[in-house]
Order: sequence, then structure tokens, then C-alpha cells
Amino acid sequence: MNNCVTVVVGCKWGDEGKGKIASLTSKNAKFVIRATGGSNAGHTVIYNGKKVALHLIPGGITYPNKIGIIGPGTVIEPKVLLDELALLKDSGVSDIEDRLKISGRAHVVFPWHKDLDELHEQVKEHPIGTTKRGIGPTYSDKATRKGLRIYDLLLPVDELEKKINEDVFLHNQLFLANNMEECVVDSKKFAMTFAEYGQLLRPYVTDVLPIYMETIKNNDGIVIEGAQAFRLDNDDGEYPDVTASHPVTSGCLLGAGLPAQALKLVIGVDKAYNTRVGNGPFPTELPSSIDENGNLIPNQPKLEGDIIRELGYEYGATTGRPRRCGWMDAVMLRTAKYGCGIDVLCINHLDTLGKIGMELGYVKVCVAYSYMGKIINYYPDNTRLTHTIPEPVYETIEGGWKIDESMRTFDSLPEKAKQFIEIVERISEIPVKFVGTGPANDDIIEKK
Ligand code: GDP
Ligand code: IMO
Ligand code: MG
Repeated sequence: MNNCVTVVVGCKWGDEGKGKIASLTSKNAKFVIRATGGSNAGHTVIYNGKKVALHLIPGGITYPNKIGIIGPGTVIEPKVLLDELALLKDSGVSDIEDRLKISGRAHVVFPWHKDLDELHEQVKEHPIGTTKRGIGPTYSDKATRKGLRIYDLLLPVDELEKKINEDVFLHNQLFLANNMEECVVDSKKFAMTFAEYGQLLRPYVTDVLPIYMETIKNNDGIVIEGAQAFRLDNDDGEYPDVTASHPVTSGCLLGAGLPAQALKLVIGVDKAYNTRVGNGPFPTELPSSIDENGNLIPNQPKLEGDIIRELGYEYGATTGRPRRCGWMDAVMLRTAKYGCGIDVLCINHLDTLGKIGMELGYVKVCVAYSYMGKIINYYPDNTRLTHTIPEPVYETIEGGWKIDESMRTFDSLPEKAKQFIEIVERISEIPVKFVGTGPANDDIIEKK
């Protein structure tokens, strides 16, 4: 079998800049695929000089002739998808009707999934801080075999209504028991609305396997644009502060509907500093003015984390929530190498880290953890048992750097920036192939 699949995977907690590098990589490919998650993802691409935040459609579709696929492992909120299609058309992306394919096997996110997401968060002693996009409840219905797939939206309305009825039977009881009468589902009404969505989506709905048969045979390039990230994986992340799908490399292949034997390359994406939105452990997190609900506390003196957030403009592309910020954790990258199978790295925001260093007078990289009296070089999985988060051991680079447009090769970058990349490579044991120096798709330097 030809190895024609490149997987672009997030190494930490999402928002590493996957949209940018996946789009750039898809320049040399024929297909670009979203494989996991749904509109919890927010991938920023720059199109015609304008920032576009995509939630479901892979960013590579903005390049002419590329074919975008939304794979069987995803969960799709039809209205979000239709709005996104309209946004891309309005932005001038052409022939999108002919270039976007949606797997009929992908599952549908309904409004009650978002209500359930909200309810589940309310009853938890420690909420996850989900995106409230209904992701967990939709995958949960999928696992209990009562979820609806995109194919179901193409059924006659009465058949669709029956399926909705079956899905919501227990959910409705839960809503009633929790005084959420306004959330109780009227199956008939939703069957009508979603059948209409089905008709609007019909031209895009397809069986992806025949497409893959031809593509793999012809050795045409395929790029999977990973969503979420290694540390948000339902198994590999720190449960329960994770998402409901499997954003790791193997999950991406499964979610795209592609065989592991077709894999060619895994590009791990990270930022030169780290961020997390939502709750859960973050060893290198720096103090900042965010309260326990994830909201900014106004009128506070600026702390280290606030300075990083402001310089990197770290606010969620999906929810607008302020992101928690901290230093580069290269030990977590090493963990990702072995947990997720990463061949090469793309480190974005090298420009921003230089500015952070100029402002603070130093930058740091976590090169080991101190955990339970030992120095270790991987992230342990029993932290919930020990109630202990590994403490970072840092290497420090004094000062910062400035990256300007004249620097188009890795060698031309400031010495301290190169020193930073050398530390990342040494600790993570992964070669850095790309460094990001700005938000545009082409603001990337290839390290030969
Ligand atoms: P994704 O979810 O992994 O695709 O990442 P997001 O789009 O949520 O967040 C990445 C943010 O960083 C976006 O605002 C990008 O425009 C921006 N970005 C990506 N790479 C770089 C870079 O190298 N430098 C700068 N300054 N911004 C970048
Ligand atoms: P991209 O693809 C950052 C986080 C949420 C929360 C946890 C569970 O843009 O990198 P969910 O709504 O999935 O049930 O929330 O996962 N999360 C993300 N954080 N970027 C994302 O996607 C995320 N998708 C989910 O903040 O902590
Ligand atoms: Mg994002």
C-alpha cells in the first residue's frame, strides 16, 4: 500500500497552530481531511490577508483544487457547517460545492447535545470547562448506538422523527427531572428542521472509501488536519479533563477512515510557549488574572501569564475564552513523541516568544519534571492518585529576540531563537522541521 498520508497533530492542549501548517502542507496534496471532534475546534487560517476561524472544514480548502473531506469520526452541527460554507463562499473561496465531501457516517450534533453538555458541566464538582458545543454528549450517543448520522438526515421525515424519538427518550426524562422543561425535545419539530438541513447538505454527502481507494492507489497526497491534541485525547490525556474523541495520530487515521499502513509522516505542532483553555493540569502554567471559571479578572496588575496572553493574543478561536499561558514544556513533547508517534515538529510563535523574552528579560523551557522525589523525563499517568502535578525543571535563556521579514532561513534567525530550538530538539528527541514566525500560512521557515 502506498504511504501517502501526512497527519498534522497537536502536541499539547490544542490551538498550537495546526490550521496554518496543515493548510501549508496541503499545498502538495490532493486531499485535506478533518477526522476528529467537531466545532469545539477553531483553526485559524489567513485567506486573502483576512483571518478566518474554521470549526469543521479543513483549512486546506482555501487553496485552489484541493478537496476537503469531513471524515466519519467527526461530529457535525449542521448549522455551523452551513454557516462556515457561506463564510468561505463570501470570502471568495471558489467551487467549494465541488470540493467539499462529508462522510455520511459522521454523527450529528443536535441542540439537546449542547443542553446536555451544559447540564453535565453543572453537576460536576470540577467542571472540565468544555466548549459547550455538545461534543461529549454526541459521542456518548454514538457509543450507546442511538446517535444519528448525517445519512439519517437524508431519510424521509417520519423515519428521521422515529430515530430522534429513540435518541431523546432518556434525555427528555433527564431534562424533566432537572427542571429543564424548555430543553425537552419536540421530535416532530426537530425532524422537520434537520431534514431541511439534510437536503442542504445532500450534495456534499458521500461514501469516502471509494475516494480513498483511488487516492491511495495513485499515491496522491492526503493531509489529515488534526483537531484538539495529544493531551486532550480521551485515553492519552489526563482524564477527565479531556475531550470525547481521540485526536492522537491513530485516532486521526481512524476518524478519517484511513488504514494505518497508508501513513507517511506525522508532523507534531506546538507553540514556543504553551497554552490551555479549560480546566486540568498544566505543569508550566504561569500566574495570570483568570478566575476558576476561566474568566479574566478585570483591573489586575499584569502577571507573567497575562503578558504572554497579550503578546500572543491568546483567546480561543471558538469560544473567545482567555487561554491559560505558560512556558514551553519539552518533556510533554517527548511524551507526545512516544505516545503519539511524532516524526518532526513545527514550532509556531517563535516570533512571539522572542517578544516575551524582550518584555520579561528571559524565556524558559521545561527540560525535566521533579515528581514524587524523583527527576523524570515523561509525564506520569497516576497524578490523580498522588494528587501531585509534576514540577517543571527549567533551562533559562536570558533576554529575547526579534524576528523580521528579512529572516527567511533558519540560519538567519537570532542566535537565542536557535538556542531555544536546540533545547526543544534535545529534550523532546524530535527534530524541528518548521518554525512559525507569524500568523500567515507562509510565515513558516523550513529547517533543513
Ligand atoms: P489551531 O486550533 O491549532 O489551528 O490554532 P488556533 O488557530 O486556535 O490558534 C493559533 C493562533 O496562533 C491563531 O491566532 C494563529 O493565527 C496564530 N499563529 C499561528 N502560528 C503563528 C506564529 O508562528 N506566529 C504568530 N504570531 N501567530 C501564529
Ligand atoms: P483546536 O482544534 C483548545 C478543550 C476544551 C476543554 C476540553 C473538553 O482548536 O485545537 P469539549 O468541548 O471538547 O468537550 O471540551 O477540551 N478543547 C480544546 N481546547 N483547542 C481545541 O481545539 C479544543 N477542543 C476542545 O477547552 O478543556
Ligand atoms: Mg484552535
